[in-house]
Amino acid sequence: RKKLVIDTDPGIDDGMAVLIAMNSEEVDIIGLTTVFGNVYTPTATRNAFKLLEIAGRTQIPVAEGAQRTFAGIEKDWVADFVHGDDGFGNMNFPDVKGEKDSRSAADFLIELVREQPGEICILALGPVTNLALAMQQDPSFARNLGELVILGGAFFVNGNVNPATEANFFGDPEAADFVFGHSAKIKVVGLDVTHSCTFTGSELKGLHGKGRFGTFLSSITAFYLKYHQDSYDMDAVYVHDPAALAVVLWPSLFTWRPGQIRVLTESVARGMSVMDTQLKRWNRPHPWTDRPKVQVAVAVNAQEVTQRLLQR
Ligand code: BDR
Ligand code: CA
Repeated sequence: RKKLVIDTDPGIDDGMAVLIAMNSEEVDIIGLTTVFGNVYTPTATRNAFKLLEIAGRTQIPVAEGAQRTFAGIEKDWVADFVHGDDGFGNMNFPDVKGEKDSRSAADFLIELVREQPGEICILALGPVTNLALAMQQDPSFARNLGELVILGGAFFVNGNVNPATEANFFGDPEAADFVFGHSAKIKVVGLDVTHSCTFTGSELKGLHGKGRFGTFLSSITAFYLKYHQDSYDMDAVYVHDPAALAVVLWPSLFTWRPGQIRVLTESVARGMSVMDTQLKRWNRPHPWTDRPKVQVAVAVNAQEVTQRLLQR
């Protein structure tokens, strides 16, 4: 079983991914770390505790992550129009008591990877600020990671924040660019494939009454469905974060392409991810040559992925 830490900004599709992971024997969840993105970091932490309560897994540690971006900027916006002010579709659940781990998310990750080199898989479902901090603070971190699966980017398709940019990379472009410059052990799952992975409105409604997980997810997804109806004119929702979990569970259902990535930190396209797919380029130094090649998902067996996720 893979030892998995989920770094997350819950978030409705984050909630789906975390609960589906809890129902998946392929992974042993050994921690949740939190970050801003869909909500501010304290709300992300609160929601992480809520997910653990629903799953009856309150012994899993929660380490709270960064409140500022990698460049030190205080967050002053979140995706409340997608996920609700509370991150869970404005269901406004009562607070869940939970004791945070005494370490920051970055320190928590650094210690785990030091203790168990090559063993830890991290699934990053929000801006990758905590990962960038861990790589910056401990130069051996990137090398000793087992695997890092990142939900983010829009490589050969439009973004979802604006035509150039996907939300997680837009949330902290400096962090994303840093991470892609520091580790080769990365699989990236962007909108190129997650826009093929959906649950329909009736599939979501059908979850009601199917156990605690189903009923909870069906309640929080009503808001998310409305957002998709209004923004995309579709009676279905994108299951971005669950699709990234599917990479951890069933990597062979995806088609991969190796390449170097840069994330733009300036201009109207700030947050845009660009991948180099060419095998060889002129051998004069330029701002891509020193980048490790990572794996980017370019196609998916969406039917199989979504059916398996829905079942879980
Ligand atoms: C990503 O942004 C967030 O809204 C979702 O939770 C997902 O991680 C999709 O762009
Ligand atoms: Ca997310």
